[in-house]
Amino acid sequence: MPVTIKVRLDGPYFIDLTQGEVVLTDHDGTVIPIPEGKTGIALCRCGASIKKPFCDGTHSRIGFRAGEAAQRAADLAARAAAPGTTPA
Ligand code: FES
Repeated sequence: MPVTIKVRLDGPYFIDLTQGEVVLTDHDGTVIPIPEGKTGIALCRCGASIKKPFCDGTHSRIGFRAGEAAQRAADLAARAAAPGTTPA
């Protein structure tokens, strides 16, 4: 069964470790240990965590808005500026 990585709204990438074995590595392939006893891990997507690659909740404090949210806001603004058109 494939492991699903859930992209949380304006938050981290979440991996449910109960789905199967997950191996986390750095850019060189060095294994990054997953803390014992965890049933899931959240990987930082905002870049502000001091526990990278893990999320430490900083995204909430800094008001992180993910790219897809920013795109939705831009699409809404474009529609408001030009009603009846579809943003590219
Ligand atoms: S996504 Fe949570 S600290 Fe970056």
